[in-house]
Amino acid sequence: MSNVIVIGAQWGDEGKAKITDLLTDEASLVIRYQGGCNAGHTVVVGDETFKFHLIPSGILYGDKICMIGNGVVIHPEALRKELDGLISRNIDTSKLKISPLAHITMPYHLDIDSSSEKNLGKNKIGTTNKGIGPTYVDKFDRIGIRVEDLFDEEQLNAKLDRAIALKNKQLEGVYGLKPYTKQQLLDYCAKAAEIIKPYLCEDAVYMVSDYLKEGKNILLEGAQGTMLDIDYGTYPYVTSSNPVAGGACTGSGVGPAFVDEAVGISKAYLTRVGEGPFITELDDEYGKKLLEIGHEYGVTTGRPRRCGWFDALVSKYAVMVNGLTSMAITKLDVFDTFDEIKVCVAYKDKRNGKVYDKYVSNINVHKYLEPVYESYPGWKTATSDVKSFDKLPENAQNYIKALEKLIGCKISIVSVGPDRAQTIVLSNPFEKK
Ligand code: GDP
Ligand code: IMO
Ligand code: MG
Repeated sequence: MSNVIVIGAQWGDEGKAKITDLLTDEASLVIRYQGGCNAGHTVVVGDETFKFHLIPSGILYGDKICMIGNGVVIHPEALRKELDGLISRNIDTSKLKISPLAHITMPYHLDIDSSSEKNLGKNKIGTTNKGIGPTYVDKFDRIGIRVEDLFDEEQLNAKLDRAIALKNKQLEGVYGLKPYTKQQLLDYCAKAAEIIKPYLCEDAVYMVSDYLKEGKNILLEGAQGTMLDIDYGTYPYVTSSNPVAGGACTGSGVGPAFVDEAVGISKAYLTRVGEGPFITELDDEYGKKLLEIGHEYGVTTGRPRRCGWFDALVSKYAVMVNGLTSMAITKLDVFDTFDEIKVCVAYKDKRNGKVYDKYVSNINVHKYLEPVYESYPGWKTATSDVKSFDKLPENAQNYIKALEKLIGCKISIVSVGPDRAQTIVLSNPFEKK
């Protein structure tokens, strides 16, 4: 038995879905553990491209159980669209299971997300506008609607009464928006129940426990990334959940003692969507090249992603807070035409010359920090068809080896293209050491 977590080690969009899809081959159960339809996860198999938002990226195998775990927040209509899209392409969705403990994004969550962003003006977070933050706020305020409530009329009525009173006050008083009637929300919940019912897994917690007892492999799929984590990320420019390894346990029901491997996913460079600090961000020709060659546009919002050089301090921090046992480096091929590649190895404070060799949590300090770079020669050779590490151009091998040393973590996978087949596996995270 081996249980593996796939975690974003940067600001999201690292290629988690590609690696999740690849590793699903070894798993019996794949669980998405946090986030919601703010995620945009791409899997490419041959001529086909699939974009997932809520459904685990292991669903394409057809025979693997894929669970939307209790840590996820579900927007019912987004789920319906995703299911319809898969079914119309003859993908078998019958192995999808939904935890009764997951929370539902309600219409007022979407209103509050967009109004709160408007209110923040130039201080906005740059959210995906999917109601994620407000759904988690209500979860922690203990006025959330859970999946299981949709199937218990008495409970739903009581919970809606409690939530409506508060939410309508907020909508009208704070944001000047129209309140909801109870009937509107009951109708919304009835529709949600209809969408979710075929996939409801009433005993999800026990099912996960049974898989663990039986020694079947479980793969835990994270959304977003470590630097968007509500605790460890660039707060407040973060998402409202815990993408880190700890979140994988709380969001799935797989206890920490059962976790064998935590695989971080990092691009060979760095991107970020939305607002917030980004010390190695590039505003030059290299940045444009990364955007264009890397097709760096958000899967969920279509926004261009901000691009920059690999930040070893960010990755070292991710290794630390997740207890990563290995790292997968994706999109190495994007550098195939570059003559020079830079890696940030320290930050220097412009005010006093102080050099930081650790990531700095206070983002107010970030505006005074400039990156200290090491430079590596490019390889000017196509790598997308390369199938083994020793066949990579020497400079590409040296770049990967340099990253491994800088971040202090074994690199287990190198990805050289979007397709499942364009992957070099140096060590299989599911194999017992
Ligand atoms: P996720 O949110 O972490 O699952 O990542 P996204 O799907 O948002 O973004 C990753 C993008 O990079 C997708 O378009 C993938 O198809 C693509 N991708 C993943 N790995 C590679 C790679 O090694 N090379 C290239 N060129 N593209 C990749
Ligand atoms: P995947 O799983 C990249 C960013 C948003 C915004 C911040 C908060 O595809 O890697 P939210 O809507 O979550 O309240 O927005 O987080 N963000 C992501 N950035 N990839 C994602 O998901 C993201 N999900 C949210 O852009 O800056
Ligand atoms: Mg993404």
